[in-house]
Order: sequence, then C-alpha cells, then structure tokens
Amino acid sequence: MPVFTNMPGPELRIFANLEELSHAAAARFAEFCQERLARESIFTAALSGGSTPKRLYEILGGPEFSGSIPWGRVHLFQVDERCVPPDHAASNYLMMREALLDRARIPPSNVHRIQAELANPDEAAEFYVQDLSMMFRPRAGEIPHLDLVFLGMGPDGHTASLFPGSVALAERVKWVSANFVEKLHANRVTLAYPLLNAAREVIFLVAGHEKAETLRQVLEGRHEPERLPSQGIRPGDGRLSWYVDAAAAGRLKKRAGSAR
Ligand code: 6PG
Repeated sequence: MPVFTNMPGPELRIFANLEELSHAAAARFAEFCQERLARESIFTAALSGGSTPKRLYEILGGPEFSGSIPWGRVHLFQVDERCVPPDHAASNYLMMREALLDRARIPPSNVHRIQAELANPDEAAEFYVQDLSMMFRPRAGEIPHLDLVFLGMGPDGHTASLFPGSVALAERVKWVSANFVEKLHANRVTLAYPLLNAAREVIFLVAGHEKAETLRQVLEGRHEPERLPSQGIRPGDGRLSWYVDAAAAGRLKKRAGSAR
C-alpha cells in the first residue's frame, strides 16, 4: 500500500517499488479515463519516453485493463521525442509501440506521433502543433487541455525534453518546441510549458535512488526552474501528483501528502 494522504496542492504518493508505482499509475489512467468518457467523447493523454514509464505502458497494454479502457475513444500523444527515426532503438515512440500501442490494439489514427526523424526539428514541431490543432480545434489564442500527462524526471531535473539552461524553458506561448540539448549534442522535440501546464492532470513518475537528491531539491528546495526544469510544471487549473518509489523518496523530509 502506498503512503498517501489527500491534501491540497501537489500530491505525493510513495510506493515500495516501480511495480507498485506503475500499477497505481495505470489504475489512475483507467479511472480518470472512465470519469472523462462519462461526459466527453474522447480521452486524451500524453506519454513520456525514457525507461521509467515502460512498465506502466506494459500494464496498460495487458489483460488487466483491456476491458476497462475503450481504446477507440482514447487519443495518445507524445510528450517528447528524440530526433531519430521511429524504429530507432532510442525512439520514445518505439518504446511506446512495443510496450503499449501494438499490444492494446489502439487504432493508428488515435496515436499522435512526433515526426522527429525529419531533418528540420522546427518543422517536426510545427507538424505536431498542426496535429494537436486538428484534434482539439481550439479557438484563436486558446490552448488545448490534455486530460492526462505522464512525465518523467532526469537526475539533472529535466522533464519532457526541457533540459536545464535550454532555450525551450523560456517558451511562454508555443505549445511545442524544438530544443537543442547541449549536453547531449542533440535536438529534441518537446511539449512546452504552456501546453503541459494547461493539462487537467499531470503525474510525475520517478524511481531510483540516483534521483533522490534531485527530487528533494525539486520538491523541497528553492524555486529554480532554470536549473531544475521539473519545477516549471505547475498546471494552472489542473492537478499535479508525484508518484515516486521509496528509493527516489529516500531524501525527502516530507514522506507523503502535499508535496510542497
Ligand atoms: C526522454 C523523456 C524524458 C524522461 C526522463 C526520465 O525522452 O528521455 O521523455 O523526459 O522522462 O529523462 O527518464 P528515465 O525514466 O529513463 O529516467
């Protein structure tokens, strides 16, 4: 059982391990999906890459949730992508496809991929904005509200492909940014703060002791989003939760409940 209390502000849930964390995240996806679909025609979610959410995607794609998630009414987006072809070992899309998309038989038209293999990452970002616009059809000046966003956090405090000191951190208007990441000598394409912070619910998934000190600084330290971009995630009207395993929570003073 996770340590959990229901308090206002960002919520912190601490699980024994990644397996428990992943099951809880899958259960929240299914629950929120059902809740929204009782009122709306579709449910929209953006999924991160990296290694932490892989188990969550496998669980969502497996038999436990096959009956409770009407995938035909779910649209999945990518939080960010590395600038490689979609069948490249480093592709976030490939990880999602293998763990979830193929296994859950999600209609291909419900999967919104970032075309980060294009030679020009700005063009990939622009295509992704067009895809989002077609789906959400916002009025001029309006920002789409994704229902649910799963984010990860790197040991350097980055989230999505919003890396410390990178140009995209300053984005206050655009929904999607092409972002050159100096320490990786590589381009990424990423949802930017305006879209991420317009989501109805954002859940960070963080596991492993190598992230414990960064997690402490992000949740309990000074507000320095230039250095710790995860701190820039503050959904305006949405809910923010941190699902962390015991190893990542190892340096937190506050053990559960409100994260800040
Ligand atoms: C990516 C991501 C990224 C990820 C963090 C954490 O493309 O790598 O989407 O933001 O969530 O780097 O990654 P891990 O889960 O592998 O630690």
